[in-house]
This record gives sequence, C-alpha cells and structure tokens, in this order.
Amino acid sequence: PIDESRVVRVESPADGVRLLRVDRPAARNALSMEVRRQLAGYLGECARSTEVRCVVLAGNPQAFAAGADIKEMADAGTVDMMKRGVLDLWRATAACPKPVIAAVRGYALGGGCELAQLCDIIVAGRSAKFGQPEIKIGIMPGGGGTQRLTAAVGKHKALRYLLTGDVFGADEAFAMGLVSEVVADDAVEPTAIAMACRIAAMPPLAAELIKDVVMRGMDMPLEAALTLETRALHLLFSTRDQKEGMAAFIEKRAPAFTGT
Ligand code: HXC
Repeated sequence: PIDESRVVRVESPADGVRLLRVDRPAARNALSMEVRRQLAGYLGECARSTEVRCVVLAGNPQAFAAGADIKEMADAGTVDMMKRGVLDLWRATAACPKPVIAAVRGYALGGGCELAQLCDIIVAGRSAKFGQPEIKIGIMPGGGGTQRLTAAVGKHKALRYLLTGDVFGADEAFAMGLVSEVVADDAVEPTAIAMACRIAAMPPLAAELIKDVVMRGMDMPLEAALTLETRALHLLFSTRDQKEGMAAFIEKRAPAFTGT
C-alpha cells in the first residue's frame, strides 16, 4: 500500500529554489486527492515564503504524473466528484504567483499533462510522453486541458489529441509549442534547476508582475492587456530593485536585488 502521507516531497536544491516532487511511483505518480492537497498546500507555502523565488515541479524517471487516480474515481458519482473539490485544489495550484517550472520525465498524461500545462515553463526529457487520454476511459479533461492545451497549440492540434487520446512525444510537444525545451532525460532536473536559479537571481517583483500580466493578459482584449502591462511596468519604478538594476548597469557591476 502507498503511504499517502508522503506523496509529495519538498527539496531545496539551491538558494531561492524549491523542488516539489510527486512521489507515488507505484501508481505512476497518479494524482490522488492527497497528492493534490499536498501540492496545493506546498505551493501555497512557496508563495508565502520570502525565501522562495522559483519553484520546480518534478516526478520520477517513469512518470511526471499519469493523470488523476483512476482507482479513486472509478466508482464515483456526480455528487462525489462535486464534493471532492478537485477544482479548488487545482485553482490553488495554478494560483502560485511565483514562476513554476515543470521538469517532465516519463508520462505526463491526463491530469499530469494538465499539471505540466499550468506551470509557466516546461522542460521535457527526450523520452517524455504527453497526452490527454481521458476520452479512452469515458471522460474528458477536467484540469484545464480543453482550454490550456488549445491555447498552447491551437484548436486543430488540440482536438486531434483530445479526441483520439493519442500520446505524443517530447519532440512533437516542442514542435507544437507545448514545451519550452527538450533535453536528455538525465538533464531534465539539472536544466530545470539551473533555469530556476537564474530566475531566482532576478528581481522577484519583476518576475511576479511579468507572470501576472502574461497570465491575465491571455484572457483580456489586447488594449486592456497592454494597459495592464504599462501600469505594471510603472509600478516597478517604485521598487528599489529597479533603482539597483539600472545603477548596477551604469556602474558596470553586478546588481544585488533584494525583492523590495
Ligand atoms: C491509477 C494508475 C494510473 C492512474 C497508472 N496506474 N496510471 N493508477 N490512476 N492514472 C497504476 C496502474 O494501475 C499500475 O498499478 C501501476 O500504476 C503501473 O501502471 P502500468 O499500467 O502497469 O504501467 P505501464 O505499463 O508502464 O503504463 C504506464 C501508463 C499506464 C501508460 C501511464 O499506466 C496508463 O495508461 N495509465 C493511465 C493513464 C490515464 O488514462 N490517465 C488519465 C486519467 S483521467 P498496479 O497496481 O497494477 O501495479 C484524468 C482526468 C480526470 O487524468 C479529471 C477529473 C478530475
């Protein structure tokens, strides 16, 4: 039996970086309710922590996550599904204001593919496998797959995969614009952590506002989104890090950002 109390592990691979590892290998990291609760909880802690500047979400070599836990859902009815509040946990997971990088090795299927999609950057191993196979078991994506996949790759590619349930590889995912970078399987976590370190060294308020404006802007008319961008840019001129960044450039030295 799986020890559900420790299905997400928290690691600190570098200053300013937290790695959250889904660790339920016997079930290919299927997202049980407990995995979802722990992910939402730890991401909330990362969001509140003044030390954390960037988060990496990872799994294990076989699976990033093979989707919702089918064994937990098989006998559920509509009311059970409504009462589980999966969507609330999912929203809490997606709401992290800090940059989140998915480090995908192995299977990222169904809810696992959606978990990767709600990250900001996706680093995938060459043998990673993506897909939304929900249709094959009589359901459909419920964690944003119909919307985020379509936004990422366009209607015709999205429906091609959503309606067949076909699995696709990392190179195809990269070509479609679903993943940010494809690297050797062994290099996935080092690459994601190195990228997280570089982001962690950036002024955090700028990083948060960039993420915020990109995410909000996707749902807005262009003019409104551009106004939001301008306001956010102007806001950064009241931070010390803006003064520091520009002074460091002019004085030809490295900046020391404080997040203030
Ligand atoms: C529960 C799962 C699971 C899952 C794998 N396992 N995926 N258990 N939920 N999503 C379990 C298997 O039952 C098995 O348990 C063990 O993990 C190993 O799996 P195998 O199938 O033997 O491994 P392998 O041959 O390597 O195949 C891996 C796989 C396959 C390709 C990932 O397991 C698979 O197709 N899984 C289901 C993928 C899927 O349909 N995902 C979408 C779920 S629905 P035992 O006990 O036999 O060792 C979804 C949206 C829901 O995500 C939205 C509502 C909230």
